[in-house]
Amino acid sequence: MTLLQIMADSDAAEVRLRTSDPEVIAAELRKRGIVFDRWPTPAALDASTSTDALLAEYADRIGELNADGRYKHIDVARIHPDDDDPEWPAKARGAREKFLSEHRHAEDEVRFFAGGRGCFYLHLDGEVLATVCEAGDLVSVPAGTLHWFDMGTRPDFVAVRFFEEEDGWIGDFTGNTIGERFPTLDELLATA
Ligand SMILES: [Fe+2]
Repeated sequence: MTLLQIMADSDAAEVRLRTSDPEVIAAELRKRGIVFDRWPTPAALDASTSTDALLAEYADRIGELNADGRYKHIDVARIHPDDDDPEWPAKARGAREKFLSEHRHAEDEVRFFAGGRGCFYLHLDGEVLATVCEAGDLVSVPAGTLHWFDMGTRPDFVAVRFFEEEDGWIGDFTGNTIGERFPTLDELLATA
């Protein structure tokens, strides 16, 4: 379920809005300069769909988004649970911890979720917007915006990533532990 929960940045218990209405989510984010869009998702795509097939399926939308050619590197990031792999729990933990602390990037962080889910926490002026993205959601976190990302304890998503520079994914970490005081993706979904 796509979800937006807005909280005071000084107190996660102060929930100012919680909604799963995509139009309200888009409007609230737009007010704050964050792009949120929904692309139709073909039912046939799932975790087994190859990267090439996925990019081909969304070629028109991707072309539209990149009409000015600003994104030089477009790729697909994916992680799916593999309970047959004894290394999976460690891999999952490592992947999750990578962007779980507050950081920012030198360029916009643009992600389209073709499947699965993940939560962006946008730390704006006095508030934190937890934005759970699922299949069909496109979000663009503006360059310089403080944020963190939680893929949950059982990471499972496929996302198209758009970069202007090859190293556009690199995070500038603030050292602020604010993320620890807010509900995790698992917790947000458990209270749905
Ligand atoms: Fe990020």
